[in-house]
Amino acid sequence: MLPPTPRRLFIGLLPGREVQARIARHAAQWHWPLEARRTRFGRYHLTLQFLGDEVRLATEQRLRAALREVPMEPLQLVLATPMRWKQGIAVLLPDAHDGLFALRERIADGLARAGLRWPRLPFTPHVTLARYAYDAVPPHSAPSIDCHVGEFALVWSRLDTRPAEYVVLERFAATPGWTPPPPAGRRSDQDDLFAGSA
Ligand code: 2AM
Repeated sequence: MLPPTPRRLFIGLLPGREVQARIARHAAQWHWPLEARRTRFGRYHLTLQFLGDEVRLATEQRLRAALREVPMEPLQLVLATPMRWKQGIAVLLPDAHDGLFALRERIADGLARAGLRWPRLPFTPHVTLARYAYDAVPPHSAPSIDCHVGEFALVWSRLDTRPAEYVVLERFAATPGWTPPPPAGRRSDQDDLFAGSA
């Protein structure tokens, strides 16, 4: 039987078991109201781009081809700031990391080159810990969860299963030896070293 399409898809970072366990240990330290819907172990993730509820198979195939061309350097994130947003969402934020924003831009550029465009909405990287968590109280001590990111993934968010499932459709590994070019117009450290030496 063919899997259901169109599908609800997103591009994201999915930490491995060890980081999932550390996030779960942190989440256990919050005070949760009864109505809070907590993210289950194994499903903690950081969304880079939500692609909508209705991605058709042909688009998904173009998406995958475009994502295979997106270069990536490994990232070292630190999940360190628990926060409750006013929409009742409890989150864990990573420390600022330019590489994360740059990866998201490269993904958007790669998709645009393939003729696939989604709105570039403001990006606040976060891992959702719970929804309907208006009265949740984070612990006094902030965590410091090192999270090595060696890939990003295209994920199918299945709402037709009970419980709902995240199915990784494809993983896109960091490109060996690749480092991002310096931003256009910015002088490199090498330029500084050699400035005035001619
Ligand atoms: P989250 O990253 O804040 O948890 C799959 O549904 C993922 O895509 C969820 O993790 C979810 O939010 C994110 N998502 C769902 N709907 C979204 C929307 N309309 N805009 C942006 N992200 C969305």
